[in-house]
Amino acid sequence: MESPTAIAAALTRRRERVAAAWALDDTVVLVGAGEPVPIPGGADQTYPFISHSEYFWLADMECPGAVVAFDPASGWVDFVPEVTEAERVWEGRRDAPGTPRSQLADWLAARRGRDVVVLGSPIEGQAPSARAAELRETMMHVRRPKDAVELGRMRRANAASAAGYGVAQRMIAAGVTERAIQIELEAEFLRAGGDCTAYGTIVGTGPDSAVLHFSPGARVVKPGDAVLIDAGAQVQRYASDVTRTYQAPGGDRGFFRDLYQVVLGVEQRAVARCTPGTEWREVHLRAAIELTAGLVDLGLLRGEPLDLVDRDVHALFFPHGLGHLVGLGVRDAGGYLPGRVRSERPGLKNLRTDLPLEPGYTITVEPGIYFIPPLLRDPDRRAEFKDAVNWARVDEHLEFGGIRIEDNVHVTDGAPEVLTAAIPTALS
Ligand code: GLY
Ligand code: MN
Ligand code: MN
Repeated sequence: MESPTAIAAALTRRRERVAAAWALDDTVVLVGAGEPVPIPGGADQTYPFISHSEYFWLADMECPGAVVAFDPASGWVDFVPEVTEAERVWEGRRDAPGTPRSQLADWLAARRGRDVVVLGSPIEGQAPSARAAELRETMMHVRRPKDAVELGRMRRANAASAAGYGVAQRMIAAGVTERAIQIELEAEFLRAGGDCTAYGTIVGTGPDSAVLHFSPGARVVKPGDAVLIDAGAQVQRYASDVTRTYQAPGGDRGFFRDLYQVVLGVEQRAVARCTPGTEWREVHLRAAIELTAGLVDLGLLRGEPLDLVDRDVHALFFPHGLGHLVGLGVRDAGGYLPGRVRSERPGLKNLRTDLPLEPGYTITVEPGIYFIPPLLRDPDRRAEFKDAVNWARVDEHLEFGGIRIEDNVHVTDGAPEVLTAAIPTALS
């Protein structure tokens, strides 16, 4: 775990960097942590509180009601709510370091007439400002390269994930349920130092492995099933987001292996392309072309891979983007560069981020090939891609499910660093 001095130094540096990037003259900024959200119909219960990621990045605290304020003339102030007796008694809350939140009104009164921009969560009594989108975009850009504290947490999250995957892989056999795999995987994440899971664990077996965000259920693994696990531990708000696909012993091995080798080759080449200056959209499109070439080689598609990708044929089998920024949460400061708009093309509409990579960025690389019945049984698509898809061959595999391989990659000045390298991808 990092020392308090290291965290304090990182926060100072983050604040300096974002203040320099904003280059404000008269405008002041408030960044809200947010308030607990009541569970509808849940009487006095709230959802577990997490500070808004913009606040957390600046303050490194889970502190409901807190606000970080910035005035370019006088600097940063941390306003924290006074802890009530009930909070001390029921939740064990302690005083957070900072200035009492009750003094925020006076701080603002002393700056009356100046533009106030609210970032993070909304703050009661503060109207939205027209400049918020611009300042948020600037902050997102500053947040993208990870500092040593952030990378340290991601490494610990990934170590916990690796322990969990080790346990899960050893369990895979006919007769085990998706739920049983989830339970042991998540328990090991926690035993190995994770605070919680970074997102809802996906364990999809057989046909369930083709549901992109599947919630594990009672299905029992059958011999030869694809077993797709997409899960990650989280440490101090920093996420790991990993997918591995295994094959249960028994059954037909050839088709799984062939598809797996295609996905793995595409994944490894895409990881190698994660270098500074590379446009993420290009990494995605190259991966789409290579996946398509693999499907042509396997006799599932017909034609020139480039033409097929231009027609979005690949999106029948690879309907999502190649990855997303990961770090402070499973979806970190991604998005599109200002001026870039999301394409509506089936092969690009799910691209979560469109920007050039820079040193320090941490991004997932997660190609997949899936047999998704709602897409592959659709009569309109069958008609449109009559020539391009070997439908008879596809129909043999409609129950196969899918294969995805996902790693977390740290872009550096040199070769990309695979933060999830300890979780094996090679077929045994
Ligand atoms: N874990 C969900 C995703 O990879 O996007
Ligand atoms: Mn994932
Ligand atoms: Mn992901």
